[in-house]
Amino acid sequence: MKLAFFSLLYSVHAVYANISPYNHLLRARGAAADDKTILNPPPVPNPAPPKAFNIQLQSGGAAGLSIKHDGSFLGFSIEFSVSDQVIGKSGNNLNTPFLNLMANIKARAGKVVIRVGGNSQENATLVPSLAPGVTILKNGGSGQDDNETPSLSFTPDLLYAMSNVSSLTNAKWYFGIPFLDLSKLQLNLIELAESTLGSNLLGLQGGNEPDLYGGHGKRGTDYAPQDYFNDFGVLVKAMGDDGQIQQKNLLVAPSVCCQWSPEDVFKTGFLDTYGDKLTAIAVEHYPTNNCGVNGKVRSPQDLFPTFLNHTSAQSLTTPYANAAATAQSLGKPFLMFETNTASCGGFPGLSNSFGAAMWAADYALQMAYYNFTTALLHVGGQSEFYNPFTPPTTKSGLGWTIGPVYYSSLFVAEAFGNSGNAQIVDLNGNGGNIYTPAYAIYENGSPARLVLFNYVTDPSGANDLTVSVSIGGGSAGGTSSVRVRYLTSGSKSVSETQNMFWAGQTLGLPNKSDGTLQGEQVTTTIQCNSNTCAIPVQAASVALVFLTPDAEKESSQSASLSSSVTGKASPTSKSTATPKKNNNQDGATGSGAASRYTIPVMSTVAAVAFGMSLLFG
Ligand SMILES: *[C@@H]1O[C@H](CO)[C@@H](O)[C@H](O)[C@H]1NC(C)=O
Ligand SMILES: *[C@@H]1O[C@H](CO)[C@@H](O)[C@H](O)[C@H]1NC(C)=O
Ligand SMILES: *[C@@H]1O[C@H](CO)[C@@H](O)[C@H](O)[C@H]1NC(C)=O
Ligand SMILES: *[C@@H]1O[C@H](CO)[C@@H](O)[C@H](O)[C@H]1NC(C)=O
Ligand SMILES: *[C@@H]1O[C@H](CO)[C@@H](O)[C@H](O)[C@H]1NC(C)=O
Repeated sequence: MKLAFFSLLYSVHAVYANISPYNHLLRARGAAADDKTILNPPPVPNPAPPKAFNIQLQSGGAAGLSIKHDGSFLGFSIEFSVSDQVIGKSGNNLNTPFLNLMANIKARAGKVVIRVGGNSQENATLVPSLAPGVTILKNGGSGQDDNETPSLSFTPDLLYAMSNVSSLTNAKWYFGIPFLDLSKLQLNLIELAESTLGSNLLGLQGGNEPDLYGGHGKRGTDYAPQDYFNDFGVLVKAMGDDGQIQQKNLLVAPSVCCQWSPEDVFKTGFLDTYGDKLTAIAVEHYPTNNCGVNGKVRSPQDLFPTFLNHTSAQSLTTPYANAAATAQSLGKPFLMFETNTASCGGFPGLSNSFGAAMWAADYALQMAYYNFTTALLHVGGQSEFYNPFTPPTTKSGLGWTIGPVYYSSLFVAEAFGNSGNAQIVDLNGNGGNIYTPAYAIYENGSPARLVLFNYVTDPSGANDLTVSVSIGGGSAGGTSSVRVRYLTSGSKSVSETQNMFWAGQTLGLPNKSDGTLQGEQVTTTIQCNSNTCAIPVQAASVALVFLTPDAEKESSQSASLSSSVTGKASPTSKSTATPKKNNNQDGATGSGAASRYTIPVMSTVAAVAFGMSLLFG
């Protein structure tokens, strides 16, 4: 009956939110890592893009530069219901591969931004404890996945785990407030999040995709922006009345995805009324869905080319130009709170392909150019194809599966670096050819880095690109060489689903990762002639060009973790920190955290920081 309800709904609206339970029943598949689908790459376009073009950059700035960004721009959104499987079950039982994955980003960007939430946050209940070893309990349904509104219970251990992840990897968190039943607002949950995460708590989401509340039975079918305005007021008032909550201004809204534009909500007076309670303005969006509307399954093969040109990134981003400007005028961050290739789990062969890594990098750069301040790639259950990372299904001794879009996060972390001054501009490269987009990243008025895409798949080499870069004016003139790192795949194809590399390093094959980068980092030096540097960009790949030694330094790993930690790690190993008292009030200051955590879990994290390579096996 519910299934029928959903089908009807989808026939009425193009709903791209992340809703999967019924879809999962329809697909009846196992873990995404089991799927072996390989799509055909799109043919070489006709006409093929010109194989050589010039980019002339000037010191002293450029027109159209974005606001300033740092390397944590492309973070992660972890579905609430699976967050313990991904992060770990408690503060002293963290997943080492997860820590390593976050440490990789931290080493490049200085920090990593993570959200825990999604549809499954809406009817979650904080309880003091559950059965031993259980942190999140789904009440009914076996749901591994990001279900619609499963009712679930969770313990404070989830927040302790998050806090300890912050101590180790400088993770900054967004957390979702259950919004289904406003008569039972869990202010204790807000108090706990605030006291446990302290300054590592970036914000609290009030309402996830409220534009779908009516259609999905969470409210009346006529639920409108004005109703959301009213509901949000209930939360604001309750938080205001709660003397235990220190910060009343950490809210994130309106998180619309599908039916309403952000402006539809702004028009209710939302920003005037609640602006001082908002720490950020957020939206959520997926380009398409695999929800099996009316039993109609979209063909990943047909969709594949729609991800593999620059129009995708542009058309996904331009609708938010106005909202981004509004946020900027209010001095608020503007967040893409949840996105990925396709809601309802993504598509086999597409979401887990190298093409998806290229797409997510382009999309992230485009969002940065359009003044989003953060974008979060969604992580769902084990059957999702789009996950940046997926823990193993069982205690099989298998490693993690690292998805292509995780590489995009690494790429973006280095493209923006850790200075906090990266300003992005889309160069409309190669005469605006959609298969060869190019971006420049400026810092303090000078070109620092360049990103060059070649979306074409042609392993013959006939469609490799050469981009001639010259820098005029100011002190940057006289460039004698530049350094380049590449995002590549083993088969030089957007269809590759196994072997992916960032700067020559890989996270490993599906089921085989411990979250550390394997192999030597490769950075190619390109000699320049008369201040012009010819950068090869093979089909299909993305190049990150460091135009100055400082630009490379700012993107490189920082060995900042304590060297006093020792221990052994395996892909499935857990940390064994001795837990302190649960009511961790001093977490609010974040002080003393690292020293309290005297533990094996640091081993791989530290190894990453020190550039060591721990082999899984
Ligand atoms: C991952 O492991 C599962 C469970 O053993 C297996 O069925 C699947 O084929 C593996 N996936 C890949 C891509 O090797
Ligand atoms: C780690 O988690 C435990 C609870 O599981 C907590 O007692 C301890 O204070 C946490 N440590 C940090 C650094 O937050
Ligand atoms: C929310 O969860 C509670 C149990 O915790 C359940 O009784 C209730 O029906 C759920 N609400 C919805 C709308 O699913
Ligand atoms: C390029 O991407 C856009 C946006 O996804 C899509 O509509 C278009 O069909 C794609 N072009 C080609 C030639 O595949
Ligand atoms: C981003 O913000 C900057 C600074 O306000 C502005 O100059 C630029 O036009 C904005 N970019 C876009 C694409 O709106």
